[in-house]
Amino acid sequence: MTASEIRALFAVASRPEVVSLAGGMPNIAALPLDALAVEVADLVQREGQVALQYGSAQGRPELREQICEVMALEGIRADPDDVVVTVGSQMALDLVTRIYCDPGDVVIAEGPSYVGALGSFAAYQARVVHVQMDEHGLVPSLLRSALHSLAGQGITPKFLYTIPNFHNPAGVTLAVERRSEVLAICAEYGVAVVEDNPYGLLGFSGTIYPALRSMDRDVVYLGSFSKTFASGLRVGWALVPPAVRDRLVLAAESATLCPPSFNQMLVSRYLAAHDWRSQVKTYTEAYRDRRDAMLRALETYLPEGCTWNIPDGGFYVWLTVPEGVDTKAMLPRAVTARVAYASGTGFYADGFGSRQLRLSYCYPTPERITEGVRRLAGVLEAELDVMRTFGTPARLPATPPEPRNGPQAPSPHTP
Ligand SMILES: Cc1ncc(COP(=O)(O)O)c(C=O)c1O
Repeated sequence: MTASEIRALFAVASRPEVVSLAGGMPNIAALPLDALAVEVADLVQREGQVALQYGSAQGRPELREQICEVMALEGIRADPDDVVVTVGSQMALDLVTRIYCDPGDVVIAEGPSYVGALGSFAAYQARVVHVQMDEHGLVPSLLRSALHSLAGQGITPKFLYTIPNFHNPAGVTLAVERRSEVLAICAEYGVAVVEDNPYGLLGFSGTIYPALRSMDRDVVYLGSFSKTFASGLRVGWALVPPAVRDRLVLAAESATLCPPSFNQMLVSRYLAAHDWRSQVKTYTEAYRDRRDAMLRALETYLPEGCTWNIPDGGFYVWLTVPEGVDTKAMLPRAVTARVAYASGTGFYADGFGSRQLRLSYCYPTPERITEGVRRLAGVLEAELDVMRTFGTPARLPATPPEPRNGPQAPSPHTP
């Protein structure tokens, strides 16, 4: 699917009559907007001369210190000098790829992986090799065989890109006992590790998992305030080894000169003066309710043969549909039925994922989620009816074999 097709489709999908289970927009309605309005006014009044001026390429020292305090919750001990503030963690992803990769270089990523990361890898012409996950995240033995086979071809991947917590799109979390194993395997093959962790504080049980970076100071760690505070402020960061830091700052400077001072100062004030941890709790409670609504609706409405995982945090359910249904081909029919989702192929660099789709429960209300899943079930039933009438559609020769990847967590329809 080309970008323009997606844009056209999403223009339709964002109409109010369509229930969008496609995007990963946080539920910012849960923010204390009145208190923030006072903070914004005060920021302009008292510190406007600084807030509205250019800042430093690395980001404001006060915010970098606060970021270190946030990361300490995941066991990370970091020096604020090694933090580079970026315009969302998406910018950090882009810059890190720019620094590490030349065209043709290999990056290892989970299969499936975050679409925005795959976009950055493609933009720098890096080749992605996916490694399969199960319900406990990346499978270490498969990582080892992928690295072994690449080494046999004389290839050392530039880095492993991994989303250990509440994965986007797979919804799974890397088991704690696998974390040091993954790091050891990468170290053995001389492969850097990039840990992308925007959802780490959004666990439904309140558990905060130890970051890979807390176990290895060479890990590049990407963080964001998009999901714990406000995505529109576009404040993210990279914590990098000192050897990489100067290059990252130069790259950041060439991209934006400096991240927006105003937004950084607002985030600093928010962290300093508001009970941001209880706000994160408010967010996660809302997301848990929405996840529950989605799981209930999936169980109630979806036809036999669908399987999905049960996420413990984050925003996403990863759904596998019955053999023969192509989620990318089905999407326009779903939008016509007033429900949108993200088809699985967008989350693979190699054409897999046509039997999968990602459902987000973060933004719509529980009632809308239930209605959206009911509509989706209707579309799936219609696809299956056509298949029953005309037989399983023959695969086009260009279609890759099905489906290799994707976690298969227990679900009511999993044997
Ligand atoms: C895994 C992952 N990484 C990075 C990002 C980008 O986040 P930001 O808003 O900080 O750019 C997202 C956003 O959805 C994400 O899911």
